[in-house]
Order: sequence, then C-alpha cells, then structure tokens
Amino acid sequence: MRVGVLTGGGDCPGLNAVIRAVVRKGVSDYGFEFIGFRDGWKGPLEAMTTPLGVHEVRGILPRGGTILGSSRTNPVSVDGGVARVRTNLEALGVDALVAIGGEDTLGVATALAAVGVAVVGVPKTIDNDLSATDYTFGFDTAVNIAMEAIDRLHTTAESHHRALVVEVMGRHAGWIALHAGLAGGANIILIPEQPFDLDEVVGWIESRFESHYAPIVVVAEGAQPRDGSLLTQGVELDAFGHPRLSGIGDWLAKAIEARTGKEARTTVLGHIQRGGTPTAFDRVLATRFGLHAIDAVADKDFGMMVALQGTDIVRVPLAEGTRELKTVPASRYAEVRTFFG
Ligand code: F6P
Repeated sequence: MRVGVLTGGGDCPGLNAVIRAVVRKGVSDYGFEFIGFRDGWKGPLEAMTTPLGVHEVRGILPRGGTILGSSRTNPVSVDGGVARVRTNLEALGVDALVAIGGEDTLGVATALAAVGVAVVGVPKTIDNDLSATDYTFGFDTAVNIAMEAIDRLHTTAESHHRALVVEVMGRHAGWIALHAGLAGGANIILIPEQPFDLDEVVGWIESRFESHYAPIVVVAEGAQPRDGSLLTQGVELDAFGHPRLSGIGDWLAKAIEARTGKEARTTVLGHIQRGGTPTAFDRVLATRFGLHAIDAVADKDFGMMVALQGTDIVRVPLAEGTRELKTVPASRYAEVRTFFG
C-alpha cells in the first residue's frame, strides 16, 4: 500500500513524532511505502510531494515543527479543489492518507472521507479544543512553556510592584490559560468561555496589591469583557474564516493602569508556545497516535480519527472530533476561582 502523510494548520510540538511512528510501524509491520505531502492540504491540491521513509524520519522525535511543512490551505473553499485532490492522489498512486491536524485540517479530512477518500485523522493542536479526545499533543508543551513564563514573571512583578498580564493562545478555548494559570499560580485567569467583568478584575488586582503581592493575570487571546468584543489583528480572515486574535492583553493592562493607578505591563507569548521540542507527555501521546493511525490504515478503517480516552487510544469517526469545539466547562473554571485575587 502507498500511504500519503500530511500535517496541516498551525504547527505544534509532536508532529514529527507522529510522522516517525506512522512511517516506522508502517514499514516494519506492514511493508507500506510512504509519500510526504508538503504544506498541509496544499500538497495534495498542488501535487507537492517529498520523499518519506525510514531515512527521512531518523532523529526527528525531539524536533519541533514538522518536516513536511504546514499551511492553512483549504481545498474545500477552492473551486474544484476536492476533485483536484482526488485526481492528484490517484495519479500519485496514493491508496490512503494520514492527515495530522486540528479542527480545520480534520474538517477537510471529514469532507474528503464523505466522498470516499481513504483517510485516517490524527488530532493535533496546542489549543486542546478537539472533541472526542481527552488531549491533543502540543497542548502539554504549550502549557509548560506558558507556566515557565509565568514563574519568571512573578519575580519581576514583585520587584516592581506591577501587575503583569500574560496573553496566551487558544483561540476560542481557554484550556492553555486555565492549565498554565493554575500551574503557574496566576492570580486571575480569563478565558473566552466566561466573559469577564472589568470591575471584578480590578477588585482582584487591588486586593492582591493590598496583601503586598504583585498580581499576575493570565488572559486567553479570545477572552473578552462582558460588554466588549473580540480583539483581532486586522480584519483579514484565513482560508477557514478565522481572524488573527491578540490585543486583549494590552487592552487589559491599560484598563488596569487607568483604574488602579498601578503600573501594568503585558507579555504576549504568541508563537513561542508552539515552537521547539515537545515534552515527554507530548512525545508519548504523538507516538501512540501515530502507531494507532497506521494500524487503522492497515485495517482499512477509513473516515476515522485516533483519540485518547482515559489512557487508551481509540478510533472515533472523524466527524465526531470536528463537529463541535471542546471548550472549558463552567465547572472547571469555577474550580480555579478559589485562587483569584
Ligand atoms: O490553533 C492554534 C493556534 O496557535 C491558535 O492558538 C492561534 O490563535 C492560531 O493558531 C495562530 O495562528 P497563526 O499561526 O496563523 O498565527
């Protein structure tokens, strides 16, 4: 069998670990041949390929990013895109595809599976917002990077008696903010799922200063005040209709200064959260996902996605993983409020 592999959407630590596991098991256990597609769905759409075999995956387990490249290309939104993908796969003799991606990349995989393309999905995203899987790889690394930043910010905040705001990624899900904030001992955590009340935030900041500690606020890029709106960088949307988020951290620091008279500064962690080497947890999860994904290909169990449920890797229909975003439940947010202020 000839298997194509692609990585799409925002990159994240662990992508190379999946590619390595897919290829290593595919070659040794099933005698498969592989072909790499460049830059996400752009690869099958434009027939952009790269050799992929045991040689190419040597030494890539700890490497961040993806050896295949990535993009946010959406063949479904391109005129005749789906037909072009199918023609190219046929011409290249590709019998099955392993698509590694988040809601958008796997959304395309879902659409292609519905028209008979033999595809198996592997869920990735630092945002951890895919349904049907307890965790996606990349998330643990992002949380650890953000936690380390928060640890460092505590000491400088206290030296200068300042409020420090840390803006983290996560788009419409507050998982990174919630976990990094909790692990880093933040005094306030603001997430998209729970619009915040600025008066309440100011109250927490003031009570923190009164107890002679400097407040650290972790804010998710998609968080917004109750009477405000989502802050974006420009009006342009990507091929999947997403705006570029960011700006809430700065907005909040200015509001804190204006309302409390104390100095405030913002750190936007941005793509640092996505770069570099994966944690052990992400390497193990990504590797297990890869091993199970190639088993699904061997079983011709197409239209499925591998997922972590408890400690088991299971297969679920692709559509189940992409139907709705997995956001932070109110009960999880209620837990962390004990530490606010
Ligand atoms: O979905 C992953 C993610 O890192 C989001 O958290 C973030 O909003 C977005 O991608 C950033 O995308 P880009 O790489 O296009 O700046």
